[in-house]
Amino acid sequence: MASKKFKKNLLCIGAGYVGGPTMAMIAHKCPQYKVTVVDVSNEKIAAWQTDNLPIYEPGLLELVKSCRGKNLFFSTDVDKGIKESEIIFISVNTPTKTFGEGAGKSADLQYWEKTARDILRASDSDKIIVERSTLPVKTAIAMERILSLNEKGLNFEVVSNPEFLAEGTAIKDLEKPDRVLIGSKETESGIKARNKIVNIYANWIPRTHLITSNQMSSELSKLVANSFLAQRISSINSISALCEKVDADVNEVANAIGKDKRIGDKFLNASVGFGGSCFKKDILNLVYLCETFGLYEVAAYWENIVKINDYQTSRFVQNINKAMFNTITNKRIAIFGYAFKANTSDTRETAALYVTRKLMTERAHVVISDPKAIKNAKKDLKEYGNDIEYQEDPYKAAKGAHAVAIVTEWDMYKTLDYEKIYRSMEKPAFIFDGRNILDHEKLFKIGYEVHPIGRPPLVHFNEG
Ligand SMILES: NC(=O)c1ccc[n+]([C@@H]2O[C@H](COP(=O)([O-])OP(=O)(O)OC[C@H]3O[C@@H](n4cnc5c(N)ncnc54)[C@H](O)[C@@H]3O)[C@@H](O)[C@H]2O)c1
Repeated sequence: MASKKFKKNLLCIGAGYVGGPTMAMIAHKCPQYKVTVVDVSNEKIAAWQTDNLPIYEPGLLELVKSCRGKNLFFSTDVDKGIKESEIIFISVNTPTKTFGEGAGKSADLQYWEKTARDILRASDSDKIIVERSTLPVKTAIAMERILSLNEKGLNFEVVSNPEFLAEGTAIKDLEKPDRVLIGSKETESGIKARNKIVNIYANWIPRTHLITSNQMSSELSKLVANSFLAQRISSINSISALCEKVDADVNEVANAIGKDKRIGDKFLNASVGFGGSCFKKDILNLVYLCETFGLYEVAAYWENIVKINDYQTSRFVQNINKAMFNTITNKRIAIFGYAFKANTSDTRETAALYVTRKLMTERAHVVISDPKAIKNAKKDLKEYGNDIEYQEDPYKAAKGAHAVAIVTEWDMYKTLDYEKIYRSMEKPAFIFDGRNILDHEKLFKIGYEVHPIGRPPLVHFNEG
């Protein structure tokens, strides 16, 4: 099936944050394979063919350019891609369902199901289907059943291969992953298919990092991994609220507990709350799964992680309001950072969206600044029209502001000239450091009223 020039044809359906970077890495590491990425979005596919990629990720453009047009291709012709390929990766979106049974918790599988039907319709040879999207447990079995209903006598093996990359470090994560997980049926044909996927990754990843399991363990591991990561953030954020009450310093607490090797020092940064397209959705998916099996206590346990996250974001805005003499109406507040984390343009579920909405409810004059996410911010907040100002340049955003709120931990915010910013702001000038990335003592000496997360504020005026 593969053309003479290439050993194998690989296809990926879904050219988003997962599909694009993953397939670019495979193409880069495996010049012997022809890699095609298809998507229903003409706009996205067109952008993948330019230097203005549809997503920002450090190192991605260089990676794409190294193989685009050689063994990496982008197309909207889904059927042709399916026909030509022996192995099909699927990384379509699986958002939380917003309607009907399971609304607000379970995964919306409409894009997934459409893909299954596309494969069924367009295939004229056996295929291995690789689940890259995050899916409810047992989806692989369901998909295999749908595909086996074909009347063409074709065989489909569905392998679960969840993606563990983190946006902002996707290229590094794909090049040197902690592990790659590949789950299959434990039948002869299932294991044969699984081994073919293992062999693709073995082109650059040590075999010791390639873990295999059954399909359900693999699917469940993805939901559990994200739930555990989010749990750490909510755990330290819950403690940050207590630190503020008892004059403890959450950074000192995190440092002290993180030195215990059983706890470890990662993911212990208190913040305004986690965002991103995955954490909330995957926890809610786990919650829904538990509820489906009548495990209500287990469901409630995990759901609290999302509740603490919402609480942390609300608390951030409440603190702004309280510190600024209980009124922010008409006050100019510059939001530094709108992306859900540093080094990405992705704004899905960003804490900044919730912060902005809450500030707008209080009728503040919000100015949003971000080096990569202004375009997405404008889309997210279009209901406010010109009531929100957008300024890529943080100095312009802060000019005349009563407060600066750091919401995304972009490195550039650590090195701004805060004396210059102070001079341009209304007084008293407030800084709310929602990521604890700035030098608070230095800011206080400049004259700012400094409000970190989980540490005593440094204030010249006592708000009482
Ligand atoms: N973003 C992450 O960091 C990340 C990490 C790990 C896993 N995941 C999971 O990977 C999956 C994809 O996430 P993403 O962030 O890449 O989403 P995304 O929205 O960026 O990309 C999904 C793409 O699939 C396309 N698509 C939808 N239906 C299609 C169809 N029938 N045919 C062709 N294309 C179709 C969409 O147009 C979109 O471009 C999700 O299940 C997500 O939970 C995401």
